[in-house]
Amino acid sequence: MPLTTTGEMFKKAYAGGYAVGAFNVNNMEIVQGITEAAQELRSPVILQVSAGARKYASHTYLMKLVEAAVAETDIPIALHLDHGADFDICKSCIDGGFTSVMIDGSHHGFAENIELTKKVVDYAHSKGVSVEGELGQLAGIEDAVNVSAENASYTQPGQVEEFVGKTGVDSLAIAIGTSHGAFKFKPGVEPQLRFDILEEVAGRLPGFPIVLHGASSVPREFIDEINQYGGVLPGAIGIPEEMLRRAAGSAVCKINIDSDIRMAMTAAIRKYLALNPDKFDPREYLKPARQAVKDMVAHKIRNVLGCEGKA
Ligand code: G3H
Ligand code: 13P
Ligand code: ZN
Repeated sequence: MPLTTTGEMFKKAYAGGYAVGAFNVNNMEIVQGITEAAQELRSPVILQVSAGARKYASHTYLMKLVEAAVAETDIPIALHLDHGADFDICKSCIDGGFTSVMIDGSHHGFAENIELTKKVVDYAHSKGVSVEGELGQLAGIEDAVNVSAENASYTQPGQVEEFVGKTGVDSLAIAIGTSHGAFKFKPGVEPQLRFDILEEVAGRLPGFPIVLHGASSVPREFIDEINQYGGVLPGAIGIPEEMLRRAAGSAVCKINIDSDIRMAMTAAIRKYLALNPDKFDPREYLKPARQAVKDMVAHKIRNVLGCEGKA
């Protein structure tokens, strides 16, 4: 099956009360770990690429890795640009074979965000590519956008109909209290998401797919394992999985996960090297790292996203 757009995936996810996982890819082991888990569990999956990933691995290498995954599997796979900062990067990914792009105009004013998003939508739709827009700002760091917790702001539900109507976007990322990175809530702060905002947005946009960024749950075991084998990470608090399950059962059709992949890989590599100090063949420590990605993605598909068997 060739690369698919997200349109059909989201229609089924909305109707079926589940979400599709969007996992960030940067190298071969990550692409393999994610797609092997999705294939074994018969789940659709979105592979997403940030500007930083393109800088690290190059567009062509990532494209070829994803093409290899498509050849090795028979599940729906979409290739998505994560946090496109401007028209040019979106155009480059559309022209270069991606089936979906995000234009992140959330750090612009409302009118400017609409104008930029519409420009991307017009181009993308002329090429059969889906577009995700964003309203509201998450705290955290992406390659091109750095938003401090103080500047993060929830999505205003009163703006969503105008934004979707004027831009023609296919899905909308909203800010309800998730954030990027592994340290989402300060120690002692009870993790909370604004489900009231999500519900109001969903009510205003019936049938329309909503996206949640910053949705890693950063299981304690990753942090403990990293620190047990020489890491010095402070305690991290992610999004509790029961909250993600609740979101996946609602209008949320795409849930973005990157930090959990980083944590899982790093924990596996640290452990392997600590227990095998005489080893230096990268294949030996990247093998458990790839397996850790696969196990983590399988866990999300089964226990969080609800998309097992939906391919
Ligand atoms: O939301 C951002 C993603 O985790 C990508 O991060 O820009 O460091 O590749 P990156
Ligand atoms: P996490 O940092 O919570 O994994 O979020 C990733 C993300 O939103 C990518 O766009
Ligand atoms: Zn994000």
